Amino acid sequence: MTDAPKPNDTAVDALSEKHAGQELARLAEVLARANDAYHTQDAPDLTDAEYDALKRRNTKIETRFPHLKRSDSPSDQVGAVAAAGFQKITHAVAMLSLWNAFTDDDVVEFDRAIRKYLGLSAITELTYTAEPKIDGLSLSLRYENGALVHAATRGDGATGENVTTNARTIADIPEELAGAPDLLEVRGEVYMSHVDFEALNTRQAEAGDKTFANPRNAAAGSLRQLDATITAARPLRFFAYAWGALSQPLSDTQLGAIDRLAELGFQTNPLTALCDGPDAMVAHFRKIEAQRATLGYDIDGVVYKVNDLAWQSRLGFRSTTPRWAIAHKFPAELAWTRLDGIDIQVGRTGALSPVARLHPVTVGGVVVSNATLHNEDYIAGRGADGGTIRDGKDIRVGDWVQVYRAGDVIPKVADIDLSKRPDAAQPYDFPETCPQCDSPAVREDGDAVRRCTGGLICPAQAIEKLKHFVSRGAFDIEGLGAKQVEQFFTDGWVKEPAHIFTLNARYGSGLQQLQNREGWGQKSANNLFQAIDDKRQIAFNRLLFGLGIRHLGEAAAKDLARHFVDWASLAQTVDLAAGEPALKDTAKAALDQSPGWQELLSIDGVGRTLVHSLIAAFTNNEERASFDRLLKELDVQPLEAASADTPVAGKTVVFTGSLEKMTRAEAKARAEALGAKVAGSVSAKTDLLVAGPGAGSKAKKAAELGIETLDEDGWLALINDA
Ligand code: IVH
Repeated sequence: MTDAPKPNDTAVDALSEKHAGQELARLAEVLARANDAYHTQDAPDLTDAEYDALKRRNTKIETRFPHLKRSDSPSDQVGAVAAAGFQKITHAVAMLSLWNAFTDDDVVEFDRAIRKYLGLSAITELTYTAEPKIDGLSLSLRYENGALVHAATRGDGATGENVTTNARTIADIPEELAGAPDLLEVRGEVYMSHVDFEALNTRQAEAGDKTFANPRNAAAGSLRQLDATITAARPLRFFAYAWGALSQPLSDTQLGAIDRLAELGFQTNPLTALCDGPDAMVAHFRKIEAQRATLGYDIDGVVYKVNDLAWQSRLGFRSTTPRWAIAHKFPAELAWTRLDGIDIQVGRTGALSPVARLHPVTVGGVVVSNATLHNEDYIAGRGADGGTIRDGKDIRVGDWVQVYRAGDVIPKVADIDLSKRPDAAQPYDFPETCPQCDSPAVREDGDAVRRCTGGLICPAQAIEKLKHFVSRGAFDIEGLGAKQVEQFFTDGWVKEPAHIFTLNARYGSGLQQLQNREGWGQKSANNLFQAIDDKRQIAFNRLLFGLGIRHLGEAAAKDLARHFVDWASLAQTVDLAAGEPALKDTAKAALDQSPGWQELLSIDGVGRTLVHSLIAAFTNNEERASFDRLLKELDVQPLEAASADTPVAGKTVVFTGSLEKMTRAEAKARAEALGAKVAGSVSAKTDLLVAGPGAGSKAKKAAELGIETLDEDGWLALINDA
């Protein structure tokens, strides 16, 4: 070879400084052209692999000759390697998940509920978009004045991880948008195609690196790399399907908005269609289902969204899902395998849950070795209604069982094959004592579940309660996750929630001792004590949820916190109710004599089951004492009103009679969004009664009590000024 090798073929190690400079200039130009061809002309001039290879080469040269890095360097889109972990980004508009539909009837019901909420007749035209549900991970991209400023993962919906540097390496994500609103958050799904996934796994295996179970994991693992050059080398893609904050609407319809996103340079899914009702939606679902295997990427269902954006905004949101959209999931995937054993797990509320230990089997691309068996009736072939299930066939260790898995649903044992039952297989004997603490495990009337009666003396219950206490919706203490509390529990450092807050004090030299432990250094120990102290101030609803009281979920915790404002008032009322007879809903006379029950049941979202459960927790001496110890450590804050400065914030509102401009559910949701409490019955604590035509005894009672009463128009005028 007489010719000097062309700069673009020369191994980076062999490049002279002069050639390196030339090569960086060439790469900057080629990559800029490729980006332009891809994003604005929709006509890529390089394959993804070629593009990625050039980007990697550019990074490599810059690493060898840092002083040659150009001001228009393509790797500035990638930026530097983050120091440690990802920073957090609070989403301007929460990133929610979707409610699921599994059957055609669920789709009909979805349409019916929307019509009901909006007060539309069965014949009013109501169209929906239908599009594939991409099985990847969602990402929010914030553009300001047309420039990408940050990218965040969904995280817990409120706060995600800042993965901007990595997102900039994804070719489907434009850096600049022409003609976009000044502020625009584009949301969509990052995913990996089947071909790219296979190729990546082959490369990983050849390099002795870890391989991925499925394209979704590969996409997630690739996006969440601290070293963005690794992300850059992974062929990720992005479909846009939604938006968060924006300064100007994209359109007045969902489909129009999607088209607008496509015009701005995003990839949108070509299988998106407009449907005029449940029949058309289900037909489109079947069409997409038939193409599923040949699409080249994973989808796990079809998402339907109300097309009219004004209706979407009236429908609004439940706590974690929009009312205007639903995911219609593909049917579950099935496989057969052998049941090797049954383990019993003990949960936070003492529930004994049987878990199937399976001979590992691949179900829908994931290796499954555990599955739920629900409860003892399920194993025995009895249904919840007392009838039989699986034709009465019981499940025995050694049986050949059918495993079912749908999306993220925990796999379950659905059926058994009697013809393959080993002769020696014995009916399963469900334990009547707790396998963890030997306390009796009993089933109460009407409860399908057998529960350990050991309470806090049962280590399994205590650990699960602690894990719940530190979980996301509860105290969410940074650095103190399930693994750490389990370790502290095992070592005897933390037996109950209060101990978390006395950890530092009890181990005067706590820091020193913690530092000596495996996995802890001075910095992490310091951070932990700081994180614990930070959570001494806690919102009342988080505290209530964190206690792990049965039936007390996040929504009910908010309802209680909104109503009672502080711990003492709640405790007083529960104590009062504990001394009263448990009332039947209809026993009006008794209700009047039982103010504790009456007050609790008047709270929207609080039912009899929860009241029983609150009473059980508050009258259990050990549990009550542990609450008291915890409260000594805390500074409990009231629940923040959703909006603090509206005319109805903090007020208790009751709706009665028929409303004409909006449905009852909508009225309630709007009132709550403005910070009001909505109660079901009028009492001295009611601030405002909204009475439509036909209002009866509630209006009368409000008049007697001198409570302000408005008609629907008056109410709308009040809140529209908000
Ligand atoms: S809409 C407010 N559309 O599914 C709702 N989501 O199970 C915004 N997903 O978190 C979501 N494909 O990650 C929407 N075409 C699609 C989707 C989609 C996949 C994901 C998304 C969401 C999850 C909910």
